[in-house]
Amino acid sequence: MAKRIDVEDLNAWYGSFHAVADVSMTIEPKQVTALIGPSGCGKSTFLRALNRMHEVVRGARVSGQVLLDGQDIYGEGVDAVAVRRSIGMVFQRPNPFPTMSVRDNVAAGLKLNGVRKKSELDDVVERSLTMAGLWDEVSHRLDRPGGGLSGGQQQRLCIARALAVEPEVLLMDEPCSSLDPISTLRIEDLIGELKDRYTIVIVTHNMQEAARVSETTAFFNIAGAGEPGRLIEMGPTTKIFTKPDDTRTEDYITGRFG
Ligand SMILES: Nc1ncnc2c1ncn2[C@@H]1O[C@H](COP(=O)(O)OP(=O)(O)O)[C@@H](O)[C@H]1O
Ligand SMILES: [Mg+2]
Repeated sequence: MAKRIDVEDLNAWYGSFHAVADVSMTIEPKQVTALIGPSGCGKSTFLRALNRMHEVVRGARVSGQVLLDGQDIYGEGVDAVAVRRSIGMVFQRPNPFPTMSVRDNVAAGLKLNGVRKKSELDDVVERSLTMAGLWDEVSHRLDRPGGGLSGGQQQRLCIARALAVEPEVLLMDEPCSSLDPISTLRIEDLIGELKDRYTIVIVTHNMQEAARVSETTAFFNIAGAGEPGRLIEMGPTTKIFTKPDDTRTEDYITGRFG
């Protein structure tokens, strides 16, 4: 089930470099929250801090809290691997295991969790590919390599792979930026369908995309080189794009930088 996320005073560092400062926000379930802002303002870093992927980088560290329905994912004794299972991530470049079959790409996470029964795996593969809007296109080639699919299909395969382990939240870091316009619209439509069941956070540098897919938009910014990224303003997407409170948001969305 979709869960709500409360971020409290989140800071993230790479070694001594302070990349994200003092972010607090609530991310509502069953809707799409878009993160926008100039390159380098910490959108990806913040997103990775939401499922404990930030700490995978050597020397990287986080402070603050990320509460998933009230439970701190950084709490003592919490298993980071389990966190990443319930808060799935889809990346900018589709990254299926290229030589692995479509079927095994989707089932990979379940197999890691020890599921062996073929009928159970088959069910999950069909259900996940159907939810990702890919089943009809690949049901006849489940045993051929994932790397043989088009870019847009590979991205939907990665979404199916994330859905297979039954996450509560889906994080997407510029999931359409390497795709052609038709594939982009397919993924955006899919995001619209998935939000009925999941909490979705999407980073995008495309403001039209944020306007198309999200209910809520958060604008991040950096004050200057070497400064950490900060959340400037967050609110209903229509408001952020028409009547933002902060002039920095307005300058960004109208294309006036600096
Ligand atoms: N692995 C890393 N090691 C060191 N610094 C990094 C790393 N990843 C990102 N950064 C730095 O952190 C800041 C925020 O980057 P990022 O989160 O990728 O921004 P965005 O996604 O908004 O473009 C940038 O200054 C970037 O150079
Ligand atoms: Mg990024």
